[in-house]
Amino acid sequence: MSILVTGGAGYIGSHTCIELLSAGYEIVVLDNLSNSKPEVLKRISELTKKDFKFYQADLLDKTTLEKVFSENNIEAVIHFAGLKAVGESIEIPLHYYHNNITGTLVLCQTMKKYDVKKMIFSSSANVYGVPKLVPITETSPLSAINPYGRTKLVIEKILGDLYDSDNSWSIALLRYFNPIGAHESGRIGEDPNDIPNNLMPYINQVAIGKRDKLNVFGNDYDTHDGTGVRDYIHVVDLAKGHLKALEMIIPITGIDVFNLGTGTGYSVLDLIKSYENVTSKKIPYTFTHRRPGDVDKSYADITKANKILGWKALKSLEDMCYDSWRWQKNNPNGYGK
Ligand code: NAD
Ligand code: UD1
Repeated sequence: MSILVTGGAGYIGSHTCIELLSAGYEIVVLDNLSNSKPEVLKRISELTKKDFKFYQADLLDKTTLEKVFSENNIEAVIHFAGLKAVGESIEIPLHYYHNNITGTLVLCQTMKKYDVKKMIFSSSANVYGVPKLVPITETSPLSAINPYGRTKLVIEKILGDLYDSDNSWSIALLRYFNPIGAHESGRIGEDPNDIPNNLMPYINQVAIGKRDKLNVFGNDYDTHDGTGVRDYIHVVDLAKGHLKALEMIIPITGIDVFNLGTGTGYSVLDLIKSYENVTSKKIPYTFTHRRPGDVDKSYADITKANKILGWKALKSLEDMCYDSWRWQKNNPNGYGK
């Protein structure tokens, strides 16, 4: 039996593939490589000393998807594949709706056809919109404030409707907070295609000398130092959370939702300070205007994942900063062309 990992060549997917293979699971990876490179697949094998099947295919390609299910004995699907850039989703919403929502529909239809009814879905803290209260619990109000977040919210509802229509499904909706960091080998990490939108990859590029300085978006937020506060979580801790979720969904049926974060919020300045301390690299920055759509504070209540999944993030902010830098330093051009 294999676990199908859609989007397994991406940032979180690749780290999860390593954890799955290391834990003895067989995996099949499907990715269209629209936001990832084939080199990552070689490195997953190199690090785990295990081989796996890879299909370079689009989720929207029903024929190939059916081939994947007919050629393999799939037990469950971990569904990472999707587009994730908030700004881009505002510019090309139809593309985001089609890729993320239609892609998930085609996947679910194919799973149903092949009687595979166990799925872990990558949702996002983005579904909480502008949180009124922190820490954010799974029952906090949901709202979409951009097309990307709306795709996540709609997919969560679709999966809920699917379960209501057929109680033999088993689905875990995982709402990730802010994954950063990289594998401790320094061989696998986040490799943004263009100018990074997110904080840690941007800091990495300043540290390596690709960018002069960081623009800190706003210093007048209602936080301890005026800069935005987020729940940064090491990507390896996040990957391990998927294994716990898999152990939970395989023997049962049902649908449940979990926040995956550390439960602690750090500001932009906290992150810069920690990065400078552990790497001895200076990160020059200036304060600029707030980024539209940003919230002041977002961090998770992680009680539920802790109690039900038996999962907790273990790595510190220092680990996250050091591992991010080691990846950047060892791979100044990411995975290359
Ligand atoms: P990523 O872009 O690195 O990985 C996604 C992978 O999916 C890429 O390799 C891409 O090529 C592939 N893909 C996209 N559309 C596809 C399609 N139609 N068919 C086949 N493959 C396709 O992103 P990531 O950071 O690893 O995120 C994984 C998932 O987690 C995404 O669904 C994302 O929305 C969600 N998420 C990410 C974050 C984050 O900060 N990274 C936070 C919350 C949620
Ligand atoms: C962003 C997305 C969110 C997505 C998340 C993970 C927006 C509005 N939100 O969230 O939907 O789920 O990424 O992919 O894009 N910052 C700077 N300078 C920078 C970059 C970021 O100061 O160059 C600040 C931000 O204002 C924020 C913090 O750093 O306070 C973290 O930003 P980022 O890494 O982009 O994550 P989110 O804002 O949480």
